Amino acid sequence: MKLQRKIFALLLLMSFTAVAAAQTVTRQDYGKTSTGEYVYLYTLQNSHGLEAKITNYGGILVSLKVPDRNRKFADVVLGFNDLESYLTKNDPYMGALIGRYGNRIAKGRFTLNGVEYKLAVNNGENHLHGGIKGFDKVVWTGREIKTGTSPAVALTYLSKDGEEGYPGNLNVRVVYTLTDENELKIDYTATTDKDTVLNLTHHSYFNLAGEGNGDILNHLVSINANQFVPTDAGSIPTGELKNVAGTPFDFINPTAIGARINQDDEQLKFGNGYDHTWVINGKPGTMRVAAEAYEATSGRIMRVLTTEPGVQFYTGNFLNGTLTGKSGTVYARRTGFCFETQHYPDSPNQPSFPTTTLKKGQTYKSTTIYRFSVKR
Ligand code: BGC
Repeated sequence: MKLQRKIFALLLLMSFTAVAAAQTVTRQDYGKTSTGEYVYLYTLQNSHGLEAKITNYGGILVSLKVPDRNRKFADVVLGFNDLESYLTKNDPYMGALIGRYGNRIAKGRFTLNGVEYKLAVNNGENHLHGGIKGFDKVVWTGREIKTGTSPAVALTYLSKDGEEGYPGNLNVRVVYTLTDENELKIDYTATTDKDTVLNLTHHSYFNLAGEGNGDILNHLVSINANQFVPTDAGSIPTGELKNVAGTPFDFINPTAIGARINQDDEQLKFGNGYDHTWVINGKPGTMRVAAEAYEATSGRIMRVLTTEPGVQFYTGNFLNGTLTGKSGTVYARRTGFCFETQHYPDSPNQPSFPTTTLKKGQTYKSTTIYRFSVKR
């Protein structure tokens, strides 16, 4: 009886704490860039106590605290403790917004309306993630907003005509919202004054056991895709779409990341593990489930929904133990994984892929949701 009363009191307290947690968005100083631009850190909190910290430098998600099955919160994204580290060490694009073109463009070249554009070659002989100074390294203008009851931060950036070699003055707006359904929602919009190409994404490395808490090989992953985009040794698509059935790329049923990652498979060798785009089932432009990850010790589940045609599943193969993360732990190989919702790589050079051309007068629109829950 006594025990029952104690449990009841505890439950009551828990429910009060849940109700009491305010939905807030606040801003604090985060430092300055080397050229003196002010950088801020925005903290979003929903009524269940989930908390996301986002900086307007690179639009980086600095931390994301979500509960486990016992309501114990952990930060589930890899990253650093201070702005200085993001300014100088973020080669793996941790938590960042990626643009103008997420993923690779072969040899950094493409032709649009009869004009050939030359971009930086910053990944072997190819262009990766927008070039030398992509959207992950620029200072965005941030503004706290409340959409309904959900706290949000809107980030805007004007990428000038010719920036990193891309045509058109591009106005980009990205809104991060922390909903009361325990979702981090990212809405992207953009317009241009000249035809251009665009493929925006978000580059968080997740570890649902908590960042710094070992590798991600035991996470069970499912990907809602019957096909993926095979590549050459430089991670440029061959142009075909391959059925996942009978390959280590079949994640239709939940499978441990590590179960097949070291198999003798040409595509796994090219990617150094999983580093490929999956073709999400269903109609691009409509919101549908892209993927899900489940971590058994914590019970945490993350479901990814998107309007994009593809999702790059990258298993942190190039993390190599040279970076120390937020909790003082070294980020070794495969200690985080990314679900980067996007169009397929090298689309500007692949006429059969869904187009990444954004025409003058059109509005680019894309939404991705990372939804958190637990399995008891
Ligand atoms: C790419 C990887 C790359 C990583 C950057 C991913 O989106 O697919 O090949 O190494 O970003 O660290």
